[in-house]
Amino acid sequence: MNIVMIGSGYVGLVSGVCFADFGHQVTCVDKDESKIVALKAGRIPIYEPGLQELVAKNVRDGRLSFTTDLAGPVGEADAVFIAVGTPSRRGDGHADLSYVYAAAREIARAVKGFTVVVDKSTVPVGTGDEVERIIREESPKADVCVCSNPEFLREGAAISDFKRPDRIVVGTTDERARAVMNEIYRPLFLNTSPMIFTDRRTAELIKYAANAFLAMKITFINEVADLCEKLGADVQQVARGIGADNRIGAKFLHAGPGYGGSCFPKDTLALVKTAQDHDSPMRLIETTVAVNDQRKRAMARKIVRAAGGDIHGKTVAVLGLTFKPNTDDMREAPSLSIIQGLVDAGARVRAYDPEGTEQARPLLEGVTFCRNPYEAAEGACAVAIVTEWDQFRALDLARLREAMAEAVLVDLRNIYEPEEVTRHGFTYTSIGRGSGMAGV
Ligand SMILES: NC(=O)c1ccc[n+]([C@@H]2O[C@H](COP(=O)([O-])OP(=O)(O)OC[C@H]3O[C@@H](n4cnc5c(N)ncnc54)[C@H](O)[C@@H]3O)[C@@H](O)[C@H]2O)c1
Repeated sequence: MNIVMIGSGYVGLVSGVCFADFGHQVTCVDKDESKIVALKAGRIPIYEPGLQELVAKNVRDGRLSFTTDLAGPVGEADAVFIAVGTPSRRGDGHADLSYVYAAAREIARAVKGFTVVVDKSTVPVGTGDEVERIIREESPKADVCVCSNPEFLREGAAISDFKRPDRIVVGTTDERARAVMNEIYRPLFLNTSPMIFTDRRTAELIKYAANAFLAMKITFINEVADLCEKLGADVQQVARGIGADNRIGAKFLHAGPGYGGSCFPKDTLALVKTAQDHDSPMRLIETTVAVNDQRKRAMARKIVRAAGGDIHGKTVAVLGLTFKPNTDDMREAPSLSIIQGLVDAGARVRAYDPEGTEQARPLLEGVTFCRNPYEAAEGACAVAIVTEWDQFRALDLARLREAMAEAVLVDLRNIYEPEEVTRHGFTYTSIGRGSGMAGV
């Protein structure tokens, strides 16, 4: 198949290179010239494990190319994927669809012959209808079919998620489009990833319902963690105890500082807005959004309390800035609210992140960025682990303590066993492990 990917960000680039790796001919388009220049020179504008090698291999084999010119490749394509951003619209929280609609207009002017236009961006129900309307308005004779194919990959594990998905959802009732989508994904369903064909609106809703459910699951265990702290119970054990039940499942039951990232915050908000607009409010998700927003700032207060209650003029070290490990993505990262809370409480913040520093720097004015955890810990009254990068799981605790002014470790990801840390003379605070920590 001849495939064009419009938008070469996290989703577009990963999907594009994986399709090329299946053997398809793929052109990745982006209107950001600096991204395309970098990609053509073999530089990957994002951090995603394994991506660099896979891009290099498929470029070398002649199946993958990059361009800012949308018209040429779209004219040759069997399928054109829209993988542009759909951020929260400033002011009201609805999804901003301007990039999707702009892409639809450009596609309409360039298509030749039967082409399947596939929306991979996360978009509210009805967006596919509007994309189709725009294309018909711009180019009434165009032979296109618009379908929905939401993406479920996770940053940090994007390639394996794309190549081994739990399911592939395709929203179309058109037989020709179905045949093209079957052909594109054939290598995957041969590997037994189920294809779920449905109508377009249902496919669009599946993506939002999935993200909202996962965000709710995280928020649920976070509230259980708070209760554990009051009751002297252990949230890790509770998560294990309930997660062993297949009806619940063990994933997304890790208590922490609240969800962030490029998807959950904006998608939960967009679903809430859609539901309200259709007089079918989703109160569970409204509450999830509110609880999660408050939680991030509450984590700053937790650190302040752990450090003795007054951190004016003191230094706090923050380890991990990205919203999760193995990505450089800083969108809606909990570290942003937490650091703001610490600065508001009068602290100086020294921070270290293995991959996110470049993205974080413009977002965190006044923060001192360090080259490793020990440099960040220098003179600190507390070290807070905010993102669970693997390298923080095996810190040299003696060396860390040596560097610090006071031995306080706040582990917002529960990556340490309390005894292991306290043995090194630290005061240790984690999430939802109540024994000995009630009220912390
Ligand atoms: N990031 C994730 O983990 C993830 C997972 C699943 C779904 N999604 C969804 O996928 C979509 C894309 O997300 P992302 O994280 O890849 O975004 P991103 O911001 O990393 O990438 C979007 C790219 O599209 C480009 N673009 C915008 N308009 C364009 C146009 N008209 N022509 C060409 N290029 C254009 C931008 O320059 C940018 O490079 C969003 O709807 C998101 O919700 C993201």
